[in-house]
Amino acid sequence: MMNRLMGPTDANNLGNVHGGIIMKLVDEAGALAAMRHAGSPVVTVQIDSMSFSKPIFVGSLVTLEAECTYAGRTSIEVRVTVKAENPITGEGTTTNHGYLVYVAIDSAGTPIEVPSLIAENEAQARRMEQAQARQAFRKQQSKAEKEIDELDG
Ligand SMILES: CC(C)(COP(=O)(O)OP(=O)(O)OC[C@H]1O[C@@H](n2cnc3c(N)ncnc32)[C@H](O)[C@@H]1OP(=O)(O)O)[C@@H](O)C(=O)NCCC(=O)NCCS
Repeated sequence: MMNRLMGPTDANNLGNVHGGIIMKLVDEAGALAAMRHAGSPVVTVQIDSMSFSKPIFVGSLVTLEAECTYAGRTSIEVRVTVKAENPITGEGTTTNHGYLVYVAIDSAGTPIEVPSLIAENEAQARRMEQAQARQAFRKQQSKAEKEIDELDG
């Protein structure tokens, strides 16, 4: 879990925290979870789309909870949930979540194997199944994109 108090430099003139600030925190929280699982440095290879359905304002305490949802051979998917709380009243809400994929690397930047992820209950097993399907889709998309880029020259 990671916490950060939002200040004026994080926001626009109306006090809404920039989406990019939240995305950076999401990436940091996800990378920490992936690093802990891998026991090695990681790099971000993919960030899935992220929608912001509720605003976060200056003065909010943002909490990021990250959970590893999939481990492939060298890649790890992490789900990050963002919560915003008014630290004075204690009122809080979940504002958004995102899925990110990291690859474990050695000191030369070469992908290295990661430990497998073991589901400890039914919910985790279902999340892992869904994550596997997402990762298969990402691989397919990435391959299709490369083919189109090659056609472009
Ligand atoms: C991440 C990186 C090391 C992977 O190198 P690569 O030569 O593509 O390696 P591979 O093709 O063996 O892929 C490694 C893993 O990433 C996965 N992967 C690659 N592209 C992916 C994508 N777009 N989405 C999801 N997973 C992806 C592969 O499926 C593979 O997973 P697996 O081993 O669990 O099956 C390389 O692309 C890189 O250095 N990217 C830049 C990372 C970076 O700078 N990030 C921002 C700063 S942290």
